[in-house]
Amino acid sequence: MSSTVISNIATLVTNDPSLGDGSPLGLIRDAAVVIDGDRVAWTGESSKAPATDNRVDAGGRAVLPGFVDSHSHLVFAGDRTEEFNARMSGRAYSAGGIRTTVAATRAASDAELEANLTRHLAEALRQGTTTFETKSGYGLTVADEARALRIAAAHTDEVTYLGAHIVSPDYAEDPAAYVDLVTGEMLDACAPHARWIDVFCEKGAFDGDQARAILTAGKARGLHPRVHANQLSYGPGVQLAVELDAASADHCTHLTDADVDALANSRTVATLLPGAEFSTRAEWPDARRLLDAGATVALSTDCNPGSSFTSSLPFCIALAVRDMGMTPDEAVWSATAGGAAALRRTDIGRLAPGARADLMLLDAPSHVHLAYRPGVPLVSEVWRRGVREV
Ligand code: NIG
Ligand code: FE
Repeated sequence: MSSTVISNIATLVTNDPSLGDGSPLGLIRDAAVVIDGDRVAWTGESSKAPATDNRVDAGGRAVLPGFVDSHSHLVFAGDRTEEFNARMSGRAYSAGGIRTTVAATRAASDAELEANLTRHLAEALRQGTTTFETKSGYGLTVADEARALRIAAAHTDEVTYLGAHIVSPDYAEDPAAYVDLVTGEMLDACAPHARWIDVFCEKGAFDGDQARAILTAGKARGLHPRVHANQLSYGPGVQLAVELDAASADHCTHLTDADVDALANSRTVATLLPGAEFSTRAEWPDARRLLDAGATVALSTDCNPGSSFTSSLPFCIALAVRDMGMTPDEAVWSATAGGAAALRRTDIGRLAPGARADLMLLDAPSHVHLAYRPGVPLVSEVWRRGVREV
């Protein structure tokens, strides 16, 4: 197994508070990282780095763990440019637009869906994302949901069954029958391809009782829950996520004090998706309130053609710092270690001995520049499992 040292790193973000400056980011200045195979073998000050086979000079750049994007919807066809245009002229966002993408996705071939997914993954990788979760939810038939998950599973272990995105248009007159399908035949077809089950718990999608039935059925089949919760309005999603020990409650835009308390006193991560508020001109989720209460916060893109068509976690970090009350350190933590927590993973989102060697080099001396220089393509190299890919 060959070993490589990346040295002359101006700022290394380890996300291990036992390393470096003792902060949550575990910052080490004038640092080096040693990679053995696909793992991190050593981190510390450059001057103390052990001898290795290969040397890479970071030239004073910053090094961070690869971003962990714990929420995306990348198996789809078509786009929703016109809907976006209409929204930017004053029309409101509603869950109903999902139907447009469902029709386009059903009509697409496997090869088209695969090509679209691959293109967005390459785009995300160039922006530093080394792990991503993605969902079904634009098929809404047994065959189309299972197909979406099969295609996703060829690219990631973090696959989520979202047959309960909206009630299928084919069942508009009988939503209860659609819930039966999602918890019955569709679940049987989808469970083998997925790790997670998700539901859009919202007016116009699924109410609290329907969401509980869907998530409980998924749990009984070995899928672990995550929930689209409290995005467009106050509602039962967050409390349900906590009750069912979901790994994450996602969106969290409309929270009562009781919702914030429930998250703060649970293992359920609050995953904030500022791309959605940006692209729907909605009010921002209040990250500061969640952090001050003691909740764990993740930042993800929610990349999808309807409500948030960005694959860029640097963009989400900049929004979170500017508009959601996060410090640059908190936002960077949330897009790396926070995403890992939302996927209940400890092998990624940090750069300490034993962790996966997933990392990026920035054309900047520190991670703070991700928010300080918004819109600038700072990610200059991306390594995944110890191999340079960008
Ligand atoms: O996370 N909220 C539900 N699902 C997506 C939107 C999907 C769409 O509009 O196509 C979201 O924002
Ligand atoms: Fe989403």
